[in-house]
Amino acid sequence: MKVYRVKDYDAMSRKAAAFLAAKMILKPNALLGLATGSTPAGTYKRLVEMYQAGELDFSGIRTVNLDEYRGILPDSPNSYYYFMKENLFSKVNILPENTYIPDGSNPDAQRVCREYEDTIERLGPIEVQLLGLGHDGHIAFNEPGDEFEDRTHCAWLNEQTIQANKRFFETGQDVPRQAYTMGIGTIMRARSILMLVSGREKAEILRQVLEGPVTPKVPGSILRFHPDVTVFADEAALGDGGR
Ligand code: GLP
Repeated sequence: MKVYRVKDYDAMSRKAAAFLAAKMILKPNALLGLATGSTPAGTYKRLVEMYQAGELDFSGIRTVNLDEYRGILPDSPNSYYYFMKENLFSKVNILPENTYIPDGSNPDAQRVCREYEDTIERLGPIEVQLLGLGHDGHIAFNEPGDEFEDRTHCAWLNEQTIQANKRFFETGQDVPRQAYTMGIGTIMRARSILMLVSGREKAEILRQVLEGPVTPKVPGSILRFHPDVTVFADEAALGDGGR
């Protein structure tokens, strides 16, 4: 794991966008694994600026997103589909048919997950998988548990995640309890991984990811077994440690 200390959220977003841009320039038809949440929003904003400045071309790029809530319609403002459309897809020249997100409106979990995993295998491997880090150590919606789930599956959100994500909904009751998510194996099969972490409230969980035992109780810790992981973390997230 290569961990880079960056000053703040803005510096993290700029470096992350440059990292992704470099991959896109080297491979104009790259398959990018994308993430949602507050953490990558600044990265998408910067990518849009680069596109508007004529520095980036998305016309051959293909994307697969990590996850989607189960039981949500794509046009709901809380869906990850909507997030991606608002933050990136509608603002660059990516072809809609080249963007993939699990279909949260389809209740047939087995089918959605099997088809999504098949899609990734068909299009893959993922060139670079962008990741945030959940407050409880989750990556995508792989919550802490007793084992690492390999493939795309339907996951129950734990209470801490529901609490963390309720800021996007009217009430905590409105947060879906389940999500379709890439598995740990799906993520680990990406050629490279870029993890972004910002803010003091992530400092303790980031310390566990980087230095604690590799365990499904801290899902992000598995990344230490991947051969090509880059972490951009800001000073608040890295604390005073000498990294
Ligand atoms: C969500 C998403 C994750 C994301 C995490 C952190 O639940 N499923 O992919 O990385 O929570 O979100 P944020 O970046 O908003 O802190």
